[in-house]
Order: sequence, then C-alpha cells, then structure tokens
Amino acid sequence: MQNELLSLKNNAVSLILDASDTDELEQIKMQFLGRSGQLTLLLKEVARLPQEERPQIGKVVNEVKTVIEDTLLRKQEELKHIQQDVNKQVIDVTNPGIKPQVGHVHLISQAIEEITNIFEKIGFTRVRYPEVEWDYYGFTSLNFPENHPARDDWETFFTTQESDPKKGSIILTPHTSSGQVREMERSVAKQHELASLRGVDKTKLDDELPISIKMLNIAKCYRRQSDISHTQMFHQFEGLVVGKNISIIHLKGVLDYFVKSYFGNKRISRIRPYHFQFTEPSFEVDVSCGVCEGKGILVNGEKCRLCKAGWLELGGAGMVHPNVLRYGGIDPQKYTGFAFGWGVERVLMMKEGIEIDDLRLLYSNKLEFLEQF
Ligand code: FA5
Repeated sequence: MQNELLSLKNNAVSLILDASDTDELEQIKMQFLGRSGQLTLLLKEVARLPQEERPQIGKVVNEVKTVIEDTLLRKQEELKHIQQDVNKQVIDVTNPGIKPQVGHVHLISQAIEEITNIFEKIGFTRVRYPEVEWDYYGFTSLNFPENHPARDDWETFFTTQESDPKKGSIILTPHTSSGQVREMERSVAKQHELASLRGVDKTKLDDELPISIKMLNIAKCYRRQSDISHTQMFHQFEGLVVGKNISIIHLKGVLDYFVKSYFGNKRISRIRPYHFQFTEPSFEVDVSCGVCEGKGILVNGEKCRLCKAGWLELGGAGMVHPNVLRYGGIDPQKYTGFAFGWGVERVLMMKEGIEIDDLRLLYSNKLEFLEQF
C-alpha cells in the first residue's frame, strides 16, 4: 500500500503541475481529494489494515495528502497571477482613445522662421552674435559717446563682470545692432584672408574683392522694461547691407518687399525722419494698418482702435553712420550701407489676424494661450 500511495502522490503532483487553468485544477482536486477521490478511498482502506500497520501507513497517507494540498495551493496562486497578467493585456477596443498631447513650434519661433525665409529669398544670410556682449559692440562702436544720455533709452542690464579697458562693461545686449560692427569686422577679415590667398595687392582690395554685406541678425535682446507692450526679453531682427553705392532707395525697396511678403500685398510702408546715433539719416518705419486698411477710420465711421491715423510703427532704420563703418574697419568714402531693426513680437502682433492684448503672455508658459497658435 505504501508503494500505491507513493505512485498516487507522484501522479497527482505531475497532473497538478501540468494543469493549464483553474477548472482543470478543480477536477484534479476532486479526482484525488473528493468524496470518492483516489486518496479518500485509500484512506478508507487504512481502517481495514491490521492494527500494527495502521500508524505507519496512516502517517504516509497524511504526508501524501499534505503534499497534494500544498501543490494545489501553489498552482492555484500561479494560475491567478497568470490570469491577472492576461487581464492587463486585454484592450477594450470600444473604449475612447487617449489623445496624445501634440506640441508645436512656439509662435515666436514660427515668426522667426518666416522672417528668415523672406530675407533669405533676397540674398540675406542669417547670423548670430553674442547676447552677452561688450558695451563696445552695443554702444561705443555704434557711435554712442561715453556717458551719452541715449544709452539710457535702451534701459540696459549691466553684469557685475569685470570690465575691459577697451571694450568696457559686459551687458545683456539691448538690441541686435550690436551685431553690426562684429559683422563688418568679420567681412573685412574675410576680405583680407581671400586677398592673401589670391595674392591681391592691398591697395586694390576694394576694387578686386569689394566688401558686400547682407546680414540678417535675429537674436534675443534684453531691457529693463515690462508692461503690456514690452517684455524684459524679446527678439529683434536686424538687417545690415553694406556695399558700393548703397542708397536709401535700396532700403525702401527692402522695406516694401518685407512688408508685402510678411503682412500681405495690400500693405504699404512709409519712412519718417527720426534719430538714432548709429544711422544718418535715420527713420522710423510705419506699415499701413490691416484693420482700417490705412484709413484710420473703420467702415462704421468709428476711429480705428489699433493704429494712429492708418499707420502702425514697425521700428527703426537708416543709412549706416560713417563713424560706425570706420569702427568696423570700412572706409565710408568707398562704401555706404543701410540698416533696420525691428521687434519680432511687435511685427507678429501687427500681422493680420493676430492681436495679443498683453505681450508678456507670449512668455508666460500658459498652454491655453499658446495652444491657440
Ligand atoms: C533699436 O533697438 C534700434 N537698434 C533699431 C535700429 C536698427 C535702428 C538699425 C536703426 C538701424 P528701438 O529701441 O526702437 O530701436 O527698438 C526697435 C524695436 O524693438 C521696437 O520698435 C520694438 O518693436 C522692439 N522692442 C524694443 N523694446 C522692446 C521690449 N522691451 N519688448 C518688446 N519689443 C521691444
């Protein structure tokens, strides 16, 4: 009987371990431990054994029963875990999907890309110059005399870094005009490099390898200003053209081209006399209003809320001051140039269809606002 018990145990354990679901396990349990199960029947036979054999066989029966019950329990647990994993993988295709959040390029980056494309089409090259800049490039080389009150207009951030005897303090650049003299220095250096490569005589440099600059500098600028139309960090795009016989006509041509390309064919530009230290003559550039179509009055007879008598201010421009050309190492007797510098945020606001009540919203990280664009 002992052998019979051992083979029953082995048989039960192997069936239990091979069971593939709980129903099958229940059947195996009944097969061995149920009322007429194989082990139950054997137990009944123990009672019929001679008195002296009963304790020994009874002990084996109990051991076999414990092994079968333990194996059943462990298998039950194992099947439960497998079932849980399967449940996790079940996908109810009738459930509404979870929409992934799709990001997009920031409104200002979109505008920068558009502006870059417009100017690249007419031969401008995008450059970048330092945002943390020497006073020399931000002011001195742009014809600002030392302590000139005009420096205050830019409400500049000065760093506490040690200043340089020649280049002055280190500032956060308040305008992209700080790239003008850097670009001139770069072009002059390139001209000299080419001359030495090609063996051009130094006296004939400007005839044989004339300087030709068509720079588009788009960068972050910083000023201590914060209100509905000013942010402490904003972007400007600066155009600089230097060459032989460059005149105001070229400047006006580029302004008109930009205004039509960016704002639409119906819009026109105008220039008004103004003052900047680094241009002479200097202008303020206006663009005709897209809401009242340059009339200053709406169709219902009301005054246009957006513009001043049909015009919106775009930014500054002018012919490069001879002193600035000299700072850049360029002879103003041989070369002339023009420059313009406008705010990316401002031109974006003026673009038809986009009116932002408060410029600071652009950098507020408010998704409800940014997601609209
Ligand atoms: C300048 O910064 C001159 N460097 C522009 C220039 C370049 C003139 C080349 C001549 C030749 P202004 O300070 O006006 O000029 O600024 C130009 C534009 O930058 C403004 O019209 C405005 O659109 C934008 N801007 C200036 N300050 C802020 C500010 N705090 N927040 C947002 N935009 C600003």
